[in-house]
Amino acid sequence: EAGAAALLVYNNEEGPVNGTLGEKNDDYVPAGGISQADGEALIALDGTEITLELRSFMEDRTTYNVIAETQTGRKDNVVMAGAHLDSDPAGPGINDNGTGSVALLETALALGAEPDINNRVRFAWWGAEEFGLVGSTYYVNSLSFEQQLDIALYLNFDMIGSPNAGYFVYDGDDSDGEGAGPGPYGSAQIEAAFVDYLENTVGVPTEGRDFDGRSDYGEFIAVGIPSGGLFTGAEGEKTEEQAAKWGGVAGEAFDPCYHQACDNLGNVDRVALDRNADAMAYVIGKYALSTEEING
Ligand code: PHE
Ligand code: ZN
Ligand code: ZN
Ligand code: ZN
Repeated sequence: EAGAAALLVYNNEEGPVNGTLGEKNDDYVPAGGISQADGEALIALDGTEITLELRSFMEDRTTYNVIAETQTGRKDNVVMAGAHLDSDPAGPGINDNGTGSVALLETALALGAEPDINNRVRFAWWGAEEFGLVGSTYYVNSLSFEQQLDIALYLNFDMIGSPNAGYFVYDGDDSDGEGAGPGPYGSAQIEAAFVDYLENTVGVPTEGRDFDGRSDYGEFIAVGIPSGGLFTGAEGEKTEEQAAKWGGVAGEAFDPCYHQACDNLGNVDRVALDRNADAMAYVIGKYALSTEEING
């Protein structure tokens, strides 16, 4: 009832939003089962001011990080690699982030429990990345300062088989001098290791990708752990220049099914996934043998 009603609009991500009956509120982002049409119908009653209280559509639930590490290698110089295992609620999340998760699992299985390495390798499959980097942030903050210092570096893999793929390596040295600054000391060397493998062994050109805080490296960087990783693009559009060097379709998103129901098994560029899985394995193996270029 206009004027008196307390109207609840369920929504996945937005906090409380003020709305005016009879006007469409652009802050209102329909999600989680309420369509835009429903939202407009709800709002277009008359011109009365009301407050729309947006609450999470989803239930509270417990989620988990899955962590596994080698039984060999120095415990005080750990090479860490992670991928988020959860997906956006809109779809099955095969590119985002089945690709990163499965490549990481394959690398762990190939490495085995007791490889002949100098530095311990710790794998993490993060929970609840899509709800604000929850699992990885919790993990980093659950460590003591000493335990954080024992992590030599962190490698992140979130979306590495986008169907209209770009080849992005996190920009550890901030070579373009724009956007987010450089990563913690040592991140430039990690970037160079990925670029070297992809460009010189695989033969595919790469571009830098800012540490813009959108994936699970966020808390590692925040506490000063050198970081790096790979990314093939999300909702951003491939340019003409990028299509010329990488193939694919200019003017289309790197992943047109990003956070949608169509992020299914068809939504993977298997060549990109294969190349990036190889680069992942190479860089993890390299630092399992030595991190001297990062921390002396
Ligand atoms: N973290 C984003 C997601 O899971 C994807 C992303 C990764 C965006 C890396 C930018 C950079 O939806
Ligand atoms: Zn996502
Ligand atoms: Zn993701
Ligand atoms: Zn760079």
